[in-house]
Amino acid sequence: MIRVAGQAPGLFAPLSLQLEAGRTTCLLGASGVGKSTLLRLLAGLPTGVAFRGTVDTVPCALMGQDAGLFGWLTVAQNVGLGARLRGAAPDAAQVARLLAAVGLDGLDRRLPAQLSGGQRQRAALARTLAEDRPLVLLDEPFSALDARLRLQIGDMAARLLAGRTVLIVTHDPAEAARLGDRIVVMTPAGLSGHPAPPGPAPRRHDAPEVLAAQAALTESLLA
Ligand SMILES: Nc1ncnc2c1ncn2[C@@H]1O[C@H](COP(=O)(O)OP(=O)(O)O)[C@@H](O)[C@H]1O
Ligand SMILES: [Mg+2]
Repeated sequence: MIRVAGQAPGLFAPLSLQLEAGRTTCLLGASGVGKSTLLRLLAGLPTGVAFRGTVDTVPCALMGQDAGLFGWLTVAQNVGLGARLRGAAPDAAQVARLLAAVGLDGLDRRLPAQLSGGQRQRAALARTLAEDRPLVLLDEPFSALDARLRLQIGDMAARLLAGRTVLIVTHDPAEAARLGDRIVVMTPAGLSGHPAPPGPAPRRHDAPEVLAAQAALTESLLA
């Protein structure tokens, strides 16, 4: 079971978030509501807030809210870092495939400082997708991307992650409606589950059911 249950006084009242195995859960909420805190708890990382409760989790691949690339390593070295940390040789073909998938082919020898914010975010996503872990945690993974890339990269990530247990934190109702098998909205009052539109993710951004879900999710954030 992958679950965080408890309270953080002053931030959130008692709540329970359980991830369904093999499915993508989108956690949607306003800025500052505690989404990253829940994700970091599931990752077993320190949060800076006082949490009282329990966390049941498994080894994860994590993409944090800031890209977290190592500035002295090239893009390709950053993407292959997980393997090196395990004492293995990075799989150069896999690294190249992932860099192509996120639209960074040709930039593999750059340093992070030589990339735009959106390019850094895509390099961080490629690094996370290179990890083969039972749980994948993504904290606002597409927030720095323009509208077109957000759709393209979101589709690509959803396809590569299909069948894995995934948590995507987002503040974008459209993203939750397109990518979630399950959608959970977080407000100061707690968590509430919302029906995902029909059909497998990724869904078309302009499908009527996706637009309707987006509108309903936006309403729930305004409530
Ligand atoms: N390391 C920290 N130390 C103290 N307060 C923190 C820390 N991290 C987050 N917070 C506070 O916890 C609240 C929730 O933060 P966060 O989980 O990052 O929200 P979200 O990801 O939903 O925007 C915010 O009010 C933030 O100021
Ligand atoms: Mg956050």
